[in-house]
Amino acid sequence: MTATIHIGTMATAKADAIVVFVPQEEKAFKATMKDIESSVPHVGPLVASGDFKGKKNSTVVAYGGSSMASPRLILAGLGNSAEVTVESLRRSAAAAAKRAASVEATTCAFVLPSVESLSVGDRAQAIVEAALLSQYRFDKYRTVRESLGTLVSKVILVTDKASQKDAKAALDTALAIVEGTTLARDLANAPNNEIYPESLAKRALDAGKKSGFKVTVLDKRRIEALKMGGLLGVNKGSARPPVFIEMSYMGGKKTDKPVVLVGKGVTFDTGGISIKPSAGMSDMKGDMHGAASVIGTMYTVAKLKLPINLVALVPATDNMPSGTAIVPGDILTFMNGKTAEIDNTDAEGRLILADALCYADRFKPKTVIDLATLTGAIVIALGSVTTGMMGTDNETMSKLRAASERTSEYVCELPLHEEYEEQISSDYADIKNSGGRMAGSITAGLFLKHFVTYPWVHLDIAGTALLPKPTAYHPKGGSGVGVRLLVDMLRNW
Ligand code: BES
Ligand code: MN
Ligand code: ZN
Repeated sequence: MTATIHIGTMATAKADAIVVFVPQEEKAFKATMKDIESSVPHVGPLVASGDFKGKKNSTVVAYGGSSMASPRLILAGLGNSAEVTVESLRRSAAAAAKRAASVEATTCAFVLPSVESLSVGDRAQAIVEAALLSQYRFDKYRTVRESLGTLVSKVILVTDKASQKDAKAALDTALAIVEGTTLARDLANAPNNEIYPESLAKRALDAGKKSGFKVTVLDKRRIEALKMGGLLGVNKGSARPPVFIEMSYMGGKKTDKPVVLVGKGVTFDTGGISIKPSAGMSDMKGDMHGAASVIGTMYTVAKLKLPINLVALVPATDNMPSGTAIVPGDILTFMNGKTAEIDNTDAEGRLILADALCYADRFKPKTVIDLATLTGAIVIALGSVTTGMMGTDNETMSKLRAASERTSEYVCELPLHEEYEEQISSDYADIKNSGGRMAGSITAGLFLKHFVTYPWVHLDIAGTALLPKPTAYHPKGGSGVGVRLLVDMLRNW
């Protein structure tokens, strides 16, 4: 994937297709269409037909002949100018890129539209980000490729000299974000026979080399020495050893406390002895999306050389049933000495996160944000649109809310009232790992809170990480959620 700038017009940019955005309200619509017609006379009959009205996300393909350097012109409706937002622009750009791909364009130019309420940078970033993200496909295992169709892999932003500098900066930001998000999607979509703890660590190492962050992989011996009883407990049923991945990027001052990210890295969740039903179990290859999100975020932050200190931690194991697996009633002791009774072996995410949250303490973090496909309950509550947010750090939660507004990676807070605590009380250990069906996402959050000694936010991405169907610029499956949200928050930190 690449993106470049062309200083010129819809007539001079050379691509397989060039997109011109058209607003819907009458005056602006007519003026824009007149403009287009004056440089591309061939669109006369199309304009006269009235078939294209500038409606949001509508597109039409026209052919400009010798008056254009590109063989195809795509008109893309913006809807009413006054209502254009950075998100509606993303969706319009994604619709246009999909239309371009449908006519086998692999290079697609976009004329930067003038939208009063949005800066040049916001517009440029929105278009590049959404156009490229809409072209993602997890197809590496498809050996018969003729029927797959082509995708747009190169975006050209067409603008003027005055906007060049801002557009270029936004384009570079967008590219780094698209790469980080694509990495997260690839990791989440890969099956368990490709991504298991040790191969996940290898992929983190590769990403670190490519963009410039440090990666240390703790093997089973080190994990044992650290007494990470949660991670080791979940791993007991497995034929494959666990890993604990530590990543760091120190772009800030030496004295700046780091932000620490933690990502759930369950590379496959069968449920263990409390085994899941077989229908839909393959989705659980994506139960390491939290890990994928934090690796993708590290990649983008390092690529952008942000002036911050960032650490990311990934406890990784699969959750398998076997003769050596943990069973309900077992009691595990975590790194900080606390104990938990296993009520349900399928509530495994919180067990491995508990140790990672204990480990995070050594960084004296400014805040810790964990991302985890943690509960089915959050899917019931918020669907695939909104991530569940809980925590003790109101300041960081406000920052996440602001980033959520800007990126449209929505978050919504759920309360951690102590009244819910009794649901996870145990007769034999400090706590138990399942609080039953009621408020399942909150009791999972409260479980994690037992291991936190610093300001903390928990993001339950079970619904937003693994999409049941494609949306404007997300494919079905791994969405890459978290990368755009966290990078936006950290850029504005
Ligand atoms: N990985 C699952 C949660 C999940 C469900 C993620 C659907 C993505 C889509 C998690 O480990 C799990 O199994 N949670 C249990 C907890 C319960 C046993 C307390 C759940 O939500 O059912
Ligand atoms: Mn589970
Ligand atoms: Zn799980």
